Amino acid sequence: MNHQLQTKPPEATETFPGLFRCPDLISTRDLGPRGVEAVLHLAGLMKSRPSVFQRALAGRQMVMFFEKPSLRTRLTFEAGMTSLGGAAMFVDQTKARLDARETLSDIAHNLERWVDVIVLRTFAQETIVGMAQYASVPVINALSDLEHPCQALADYFTLQERFCDLKKICLAYVGDGNNVAHSLLLTCAFLGSSIRVATPAGYAPNAQIVADALEISKLTGAHIELLTEPHAAVAGVDAVYTDAWASMGQEEEGEKRAQIFPPYQVNRKLIAHAAPHAVFMHCLPAHRGQEVTDEVMDSDNSVIFDQAENRLHVQKAILYLLLGSSVRLPVRSPHA
Ligand code: CP
Ligand code: NVA
Repeated sequence: MNHQLQTKPPEATETFPGLFRCPDLISTRDLGPRGVEAVLHLAGLMKSRPSVFQRALAGRQMVMFFEKPSLRTRLTFEAGMTSLGGAAMFVDQTKARLDARETLSDIAHNLERWVDVIVLRTFAQETIVGMAQYASVPVINALSDLEHPCQALADYFTLQERFCDLKKICLAYVGDGNNVAHSLLLTCAFLGSSIRVATPAGYAPNAQIVADALEISKLTGAHIELLTEPHAAVAGVDAVYTDAWASMGQEEEGEKRAQIFPPYQVNRKLIAHAAPHAVFMHCLPAHRGQEVTDEVMDSDNSVIFDQAENRLHVQKAILYLLLGSSVRLPVRSPHA
């Protein structure tokens, strides 16, 4: 029997106007503009009325395989799934890569017999793509070297709570052009918001992600700027975001990067160039004294723990969407 033929539709599908469903979340690109909108809308409902969704995923099983460490992602997926009435299992894959013992397709065809959704944190994006190709159940990217879609969705949900109209604000991302920067670019593009990304030469975001974000922005009216000058990026913005200079898997580059990145540190002097109401954002974990100072991390304008909380609400929304529940989107005014 050929087990490899059980694949899901390759693209996110709108079942009919007003209802949105999505087979996997491998990349933010899987959601499209309506999918991003659906996640933020549903996350708002999940946060304001959690009791309504208490049994929404009763009897459903989620398994998480993580090749890299995690605090927030692991616990918010676990808490989120159980608060929807489902069950969560965690497999620590930090000692050996997921497919070290048997092929990815054999693993996928086992998992799809037992569980309803697979959540993966990996090095290679291809591992997540492969799992989604082989498994007949939804697969969620919980961070790869290339993307961190759940993080950026929670970040834009946090900005929406704070500023309401995402089309009217600008976010500056300062630092390494990494997985988080990639997902922020794509999410911003789908939302028609504005982003400036400032990175040192040689550390710019992935060229294909940038090209895709620019292509999406032609349809949504998003503004995307890539720079190398941190002060120019931050000037007048509503939010300043940074992340680790060396991501998980790049530890051996840590010392070299520590020589290159100091001009990109988010400190009081840099953030003074942003709007007075500007918020500070970080996906965490932070390296205090490196990419950000304590003063900025602990300032009144820091929303880092709102971001962390919102991982929970946004991932509940993602689970609900992927496990077969269509979401009716609010009717948009033609002028929105
Ligand atoms: N922000 C984030 O993904 O945190 P963890 O690495 O702790 O999951
Ligand atoms: N860019 C960071 C994000 C951690 C949540 C990393 O990949 O290590």
